[in-house]
Amino acid sequence: MTSSKNLQGLIAALAPYWGGEAEIIGTYFRSETRDRKSDLLWISRQCWKEFYDGFDDDHPGLFVGPLKKMLGLADKIDIDVDRHEVLDMAEGLYEEFSHYCAFADAYDAIRTEADPAISPVMLRDVKSWPENDHLAEVRRRHRQDHGTLGLRAGHLTEGGYCGLFSEGMKLSGGSDADAAIARACSLVYEDEFGHMLKGILGLDNEGLPSGAWELLTELGLEQMHARLDMRNAQFGSPVPDARMKALHHGQGQSIAFDFAKADSAA
Ligand SMILES: [Fe+2]
Ligand SMILES: [Fe+2]
Repeated sequence: MTSSKNLQGLIAALAPYWGGEAEIIGTYFRSETRDRKSDLLWISRQCWKEFYDGFDDDHPGLFVGPLKKMLGLADKIDIDVDRHEVLDMAEGLYEEFSHYCAFADAYDAIRTEADPAISPVMLRDVKSWPENDHLAEVRRRHRQDHGTLGLRAGHLTEGGYCGLFSEGMKLSGGSDADAAIARACSLVYEDEFGHMLKGILGLDNEGLPSGAWELLTELGLEQMHARLDMRNAQFGSPVPDARMKALHHGQGQSIAFDFAKADSAA
């Protein structure tokens, strides 16, 4: 993938924050306070995200949202809307639901009789958490104020360069929990890398007007700041305030963007 100076600049700006997100998750996995209960909590929150994440009433979650939309389009396919657009929606629904299944399988592998069984209905009790709601609100505002560019920024930061999935894939402590989490994370990793690429591929060919790159960087960074807090809270705040402050100042270890992988996924 050849990339312009603008695109390289955008990636360089985001890279320390992608690293920061991965650091938060790695810190949790290595922490001594990690146990079955804390694993079940973050996994159920991840399941919540995979099933219910949305940014407004028009986007009521990654399962119900696309289903509703596709139902409404049934009579419009090949008249008002391209069939491939609908196929893309169906593919997105399949992928996000398979992520819910992957993490729910990990939950089931870890839970004991004493822990509640997982289901989308049970997840309504788990609920979102304030930092996740804040991220959704930032994304909603960016879409509302900046249209396509705001949506682009959302794709660009989706999964935070797969920080959770790449850290989870590395787990090799030999426990059943580690194996179950590593399995779920490797299943989800490839899809989520693709979702993030949607935000990047083609940016150079769009002839973005002057100022758009700066704005995209600004929106992406605001979303990454919100992501850092969302992840730290999801995992029970494994990273102390002082280090979180440093991560917010861009002092995470930059992740090198994998251009070769981007090429093969394009
Ligand atoms: Fe997902
Ligand atoms: Fe996704």
